[in-house]
Amino acid sequence: MATQKLLLLPGDGIGVEVMAEVRRLIAFLNKSGLASFETEEDLVGGSAYDAHGKAISEDAMKRAQEADAVMFGAVGGPKWADVPYEARPEAGLLRLRKDLGLFANLRPAVCYPALADASSLKRELVEGLDIMIVRELTGGVYFGEPKEIVTLENGQKRAVDTQVYTTHEIERIARVAFDLAKVRKGLLHSSEKHNVMKSGVLWKQVVTSVHKAEYPELKLEHILADNCGMQLVRTPKQFDVIVCDNLFGDMLSDVAAMLTGSLGMLPSASLGAADARTGKRKAMYEPVHGSAPDIAGKGLANPIATLASFGMALRYSFGLSEAADRLDAAIADVLGEGLRTKDIAAPGQNAVSTSDMGGAVIKAMERAR
Ligand code: NAD
Ligand code: IPM
Ligand code: MN
Repeated sequence: MATQKLLLLPGDGIGVEVMAEVRRLIAFLNKSGLASFETEEDLVGGSAYDAHGKAISEDAMKRAQEADAVMFGAVGGPKWADVPYEARPEAGLLRLRKDLGLFANLRPAVCYPALADASSLKRELVEGLDIMIVRELTGGVYFGEPKEIVTLENGQKRAVDTQVYTTHEIERIARVAFDLAKVRKGLLHSSEKHNVMKSGVLWKQVVTSVHKAEYPELKLEHILADNCGMQLVRTPKQFDVIVCDNLFGDMLSDVAAMLTGSLGMLPSASLGAADARTGKRKAMYEPVHGSAPDIAGKGLANPIATLASFGMALRYSFGLSEAADRLDAAIADVLGEGLRTKDIAAPGQNAVSTSDMGGAVIKAMERAR
């Protein structure tokens, strides 16, 4: 089995705690012969700022470029509230996404059967839920220029962020979304606000053209982003794949997380374009949640989002679908047995720690051998 190079970037807060469980899972996979990973680790976010004065070092960026895949934990926290904007922890994450060209962020929201009662919605609304949010990740208001705060002659300040999308950027994310819809239920919702935004007008036009020219057999629905947020909590099972811009994707995926029981359940894969020669894609795998300062350092974090993100790495970067299936089954088993971290526990139920949950998932994988 060829050895694969994985860069682990735990980051800050619970990023460090959940990545510890991935490390244990990798050790198990290597030991059992299911995979052969060589790992490197580096700093990102606030921890990198503390060490180097910037949110990611050039050396870490080089390692990320050279790795077969990157596993990312989470960054940020109140400790770095006053660092210069360019050096804030989140800048490390944004640079990784931009410089690695990771334009497609796949955020699956799946409600495990055992968690139907952990959702803030009624069981019947979320039972069997399986949605894929496809978030554009390297464009839009996150990266558009100008992005600045200027002081006006009258002493007032003026803050500017710029939402920009080109035909090419919309076409390529639309293709990723249609390709996913094709192997799922054949339904794509494209979400924007063409009623107020020029970028929404172009988004709708381009997605419509890609549909007509390349995927006429699939069903395409356009939905305004505010309505999409509402529909997600009204009748979430009407959706299969949702494609949207960077900012709407950020918000809609946090909303979708609660349909599954917790933000601590939502994994993601950030993928680049396939290399024309090798077919390989640059990729980073990251839970949807952040560094959770309110629970950091207490062993309360749910590691499933990060373990499942690693599962997406097994599938998308390493072709190890057997190991990925086994990991998914192990997570379902452990939840089925009633094990719960605090975020998904029923009121009054005893919750287990981050490492107990991680350990139980690995044990369940071992049992399945
Ligand atoms: P957050 O996602 O860190 O936390 C939101 C809420 O969800 C908190 O109550 C937290 O305890 C809970 N939560 C999150 N993950 C959990 C898990 N695995 N298990 C149990 N509970 C979990 O969002 P926030 O509080 O708005 O942001 C905190 C910091 O994280 C900010 O600095 C923000 O910029 C950063 N952030 C980073 C990322 C990332 O690195 N990918 C993502 C989102 C936010
Ligand atoms: C996410 C996060 C990031 C984003 C932040 C930390 C930059 O919220 O991955 O969802 O807004 O993309
Ligand atoms: Mn977010």
